[in-house]
Amino acid sequence: MIDIHCHPLPEQDDGAGTFEEALAMCRMAGEDGITHLVATPHCNYQFRFEPEECRRKIVQLQAAVGERPQLLLGCDFHLSIENLQRVTADHRQYTINGTSYLLVEFDEHFLPDPMENILYDLQVAGLTPIITHPERNGMFRRKPDLLLRWVLRGCLVQVTAQSYLGKFGIESLRSTEAWLENNLVHFFASDAHDTRRRPPLLSQCYQKLATERGEEIADLLMKKNPQAVIEGKPLPPGPPPVEPKPKRSWYAFLQRWIGSGR
Ligand SMILES: [Fe+2]
Repeated sequence: MIDIHCHPLPEQDDGAGTFEEALAMCRMAGEDGITHLVATPHCNYQFRFEPEECRRKIVQLQAAVGERPQLLLGCDFHLSIENLQRVTADHRQYTINGTSYLLVEFDEHFLPDPMENILYDLQVAGLTPIITHPERNGMFRRKPDLLLRWVLRGCLVQVTAQSYLGKFGIESLRSTEAWLENNLVHFFASDAHDTRRRPPLLSQCYQKLATERGEEIADLLMKKNPQAVIEGKPLPPGPPPVEPKPKRSWYAFLQRWIGSGR
């Protein structure tokens, strides 16, 4: 398996606090069957992203880890106007392994109005936005058609493995299941920050996915699609997205009942 979203670099953001913890995270990932781990430090108002410094830390960490997992660099890119200017000026500093794939993180409670234009601008700049963990974002959960719209326009979707295991609450789990049903998920990643609360583990998620949706889908979302991303290739063909079914509510039922003239 390949993990395209993780925070193992020591003293870089709110992920690994020390070199020892970083090493423990990498070893845990390797033992879980992760062959490639993309270190994606935050790039937001709180944490400054320094690609050169990150590369230096990756070399040190890789030397201590050994061959597996292979460490690569990306960034957990917070979508703000300042960041947008930076990425369009030199996107290879921010994308996953210097490819055209960019992890894009949205604010948890609010999506700026011109968001569709911003995503379009990223695509015009030659980038493929990967929307990170929408299942943990109330805005996406409340507007089920939003994700479909963006996927139809070429955005990709990464869900947190722990969300599918119910560790981010029932709402994140339900959204994950619904979006899987509608073929709106392209990747699962750990978004790991440590070895205990948010560990770099994917195997349990893979097993659940293989049991519930079949081994072919598990391979696609956790091996083949992320492989294409780190190699900078187009994703292999997958099932096409379908429109989410409208939620059944008492209000809708009442409207139909009144409409039927009873
Ligand atoms: Fe993250």
